[in-house]
Amino acid sequence: MKLLVLVCVLSVGVVFSVPAQKKDPKLDNTQIAKTKEIFNARCVRCHGIDGKGETELGARLHVPDFTADAWPEPGVTDADLASTIRTGRDEMPAFGKKLTRDEINHLIIYIHSLRKP
Ligand code: HEC
Repeated sequence: MKLLVLVCVLSVGVVFSVPAQKKDPKLDNTQIAKTKEIFNARCVRCHGIDGKGETELGARLHVPDFTADAWPEPGVTDADLASTIRTGRDEMPAFGKKLTRDEINHLIIYIHSLRKP
């Protein structure tokens, strides 16, 4: 019984010590091209090609401006953004079944890159 408890504690420790998301802020050119393609195909109608959300649908649904200084809101991590993309929120559709984890992580890196001129 003691051993079981120890094993449980250890495995919880392992799970929590693994970083929630591997930081990989650099995409190579192929990844950028592919991610841009996905963004243009699936996200642009609401979020706009520049991520500002200045589309008709974006304005109606109040999408966040990914290029604003105040975005993401304090305390919102990339893991939170990934979870929003996976499971959706309010009018934001869920993409967890349509996109792979890597595709979603690359989209987040891509979205962050839209801020730079
Ligand atoms: C039908 C319109 C629509 C589409 C298509 C859409 N989104 Fe969204 N998205 C929204 C709305 C609306 C919100 C704000 C949700 C809320 O918080 O109420 C949002 C929120 C988000 C957020 C969270 C922002 C934050 O500050 O927490 C991310 C990240 C995001 N979208 C990425 C994407 C990506 C990537 C795609 C394409 C794969 C996509 N969205 C497609 C409407 C859309």
